[in-house]
Amino acid sequence: MSSPFEPTSPFDLTGRRALVTGSSRGIGLAIARSLLGAGAQVVIHGRSAETVQATAVALASQFGADAVSTVVFDVTDEQSVVEGVAELEASGPIDILVNNAGLQHREPMLQVSVEDWERVIRTDLTSAFLVGRTVARGMIGRGTGAIVNICSVQTDLARPTIGAYTAAKHGLRGLTRAMTAEWAGSGVRVNGVAPGYIRTELTQPLVDDPVFNAWVLGRTPAGRWGEPEDIGGAVVWLASDASRFVTGQVVFVDGGMTAVV
Ligand SMILES: NC(=O)c1ccc[n+]([C@@H]2O[C@H](COP(=O)([O-])OP(=O)(O)OC[C@H]3O[C@@H](n4cnc5c(N)ncnc54)[C@H](OP(=O)(O)O)[C@@H]3O)[C@@H](O)[C@H]2O)c1
Repeated sequence: MSSPFEPTSPFDLTGRRALVTGSSRGIGLAIARSLLGAGAQVVIHGRSAETVQATAVALASQFGADAVSTVVFDVTDEQSVVEGVAELEASGPIDILVNNAGLQHREPMLQVSVEDWERVIRTDLTSAFLVGRTVARGMIGRGTGAIVNICSVQTDLARPTIGAYTAAKHGLRGLTRAMTAEWAGSGVRVNGVAPGYIRTELTQPLVDDPVFNAWVLGRTPAGRWGEPEDIGGAVVWLASDASRFVTGQVVFVDGGMTAVV
């Protein structure tokens, strides 16, 4: 086996193709940029064809048209997932999958409807199972692949009013381990990256709320909100040969939040 520290960088993703779900904006878009910067071809994804296309055009102007492609499907719908992945695989394998698409719902658990509970679980947890196993079928056949599930500090900690999100993100750690248990022997590595509080469309109302903003700044040892660009480095590492013996793990990228009380 070759050393991981040869003149070619073990972080180099040249020749690999990555699907990043929910990459039309926010953290997914920043992850897409990092993967492109490391040499990968990246598939931009979301439900809105218009936003996906606009994002892809902007990235193509920076990284080249050959490096960027698009796909549109709903990660919560099995048939759409299977059709979307088949459409991509018709033009080549998917070497890297980042399960990033997600949403939030804030309401005390005593009031939350079963419909809202299930919508969050389906979007933030079941989606990673659906897209993960659909893409893994090809990876297992080729004996190689890397999956990164985007978790959260709520993978480890709870907070009032986001019960379904907390349950889903805790579940993602279990899913990451379960996928590892079944697929590591077939050359597929599965890890998680858990962002702290990151400034995106999803969290803009919290950034704008003076009380919540002060809580985040006080509760984060690094003393700031994370930026989407803070997440890409860990994803590139976990997608690349630099982490070739790492699987089943969740890496927290949270400015120290989960390290302190
Ligand atoms: N922001 C934070 O502070 C933070 C912290 C920890 C973890 N995270 C996690 O990071 C991930 C991204 O968060 P974000 O803040 O970047 O969110 P965001 O800005 O709201 O972006 C969400 C992305 O997911 C796509 N999406 C949502 N539902 C979808 C569905 N059913 N099918 C297909 N695509 C779907 C959206 O595109 P369409 O609307 O076009 O479908 C969009 O591209 C989520 O998993 C979130 O839980 C975020």
